[in-house]
Amino acid sequence: MRIFSGIQPTGRKHLGNYIGAIQQYVAGQDRGEAIYCIVDLHATTVPYDPAELRTGVYDLTATLLAAGLDPERSILFRQGDVQEHTELSWLLCSVTPLGELNRMHQFRDKSVTQRELVSAGLLFYPVLQAADVLAYRADEVPVGEDQREHLELMRDIARRFNARFGEGILKVPEHRIPEVGARIMDLQDPTRKMSTSGSTAEGTVYVLDEPGAIEKKLKRAVTDSANPPEIRRGPDKAGVSNLIDILAAARGTTPAEVEASMAGARGYGDLKAAAAEAVTELLAPVRERYQQLRADEEHLESVLEAGAGRARAIAAPTLADVRAAMGVGPNR
Ligand code: TYM
Repeated sequence: MRIFSGIQPTGRKHLGNYIGAIQQYVAGQDRGEAIYCIVDLHATTVPYDPAELRTGVYDLTATLLAAGLDPERSILFRQGDVQEHTELSWLLCSVTPLGELNRMHQFRDKSVTQRELVSAGLLFYPVLQAADVLAYRADEVPVGEDQREHLELMRDIARRFNARFGEGILKVPEHRIPEVGARIMDLQDPTRKMSTSGSTAEGTVYVLDEPGAIEKKLKRAVTDSANPPEIRRGPDKAGVSNLIDILAAARGTTPAEVEASMAGARGYGDLKAAAAEAVTELLAPVRERYQQLRADEEHLESVLEAGAGRARAIAAPTLADVRAAMGVGPNR
């Protein structure tokens, strides 16, 4: 079983990234051959600062190691170090319908909200994402709910490629979206997902927040005005459902177990306090390890460099097969 996922080195990583993705990356190390990519090239598709991009890669490397990725048991690397990704993304363009790229929700959302230039890179973003995974012939891709559409396109691209150039050349991957925590919502506006740019400052818990900040944000989370308060999930209870999911993911239990454990609660205050405690317990050790790891950039760079070498060794044979099937380069 080969597992692959990618994560952007931009902005501060939040509780949604942690629960929806990073926790699954760590678990993936016990389930198979795990490969994780810090996607610096994807980050160039929106306005950005080059120096910040470079430091953002180190921030994220340190965060992922602090969360429990072990370079001995997984491959962690920077996308821009492995040129097979960009070459494959170009080759995959030939089997990617423009109409589908135009219809992608993330492209639509980002191109509408962006006041500066909307780059072609933003439109081609999902093709590069497909290349990331397909270059490794990965079986499974752990992601949050917001990546479902990109994963479906990736599967289509792989199927189309195989139909056009030869069955079995590319592997059609499965997504792995967690049952709990695939879509963590903004604590202040639980109809919006927690995100790097679109959520409120008060409603977003960052992985590196201090315990005091975590507690404050969770204790001020928006719930509802049911009287008496009802600690249960439901479509009409976005804020409470989100807190239940967060607590379940942080404790490693199920939402049903959280609901049962809250049966004697006096009100939403108990749920918020329990969530604050569990999230602090989850993130405080990550923050401490982060501070030590982040101080040694040379070590972080050596982890990424070693990871890139191992990644290239897996991606290069796929590219050789793809080039041969497409008639690109000499006939070997
Ligand atoms: P990115 O960097 O935006 O997010 C990283 C991961 O975090 C998940 N996530 C969430 N999960 C639950 N609740 C939330 N509120 C929440 N917000 C974010 C995302 O689903 C994602 O799994 N396009 C990708 C990066 C990428 C990639 C890839 C992913 C590039 N190549 C190849 C998988 C495979 C992205 O922008 O993720």
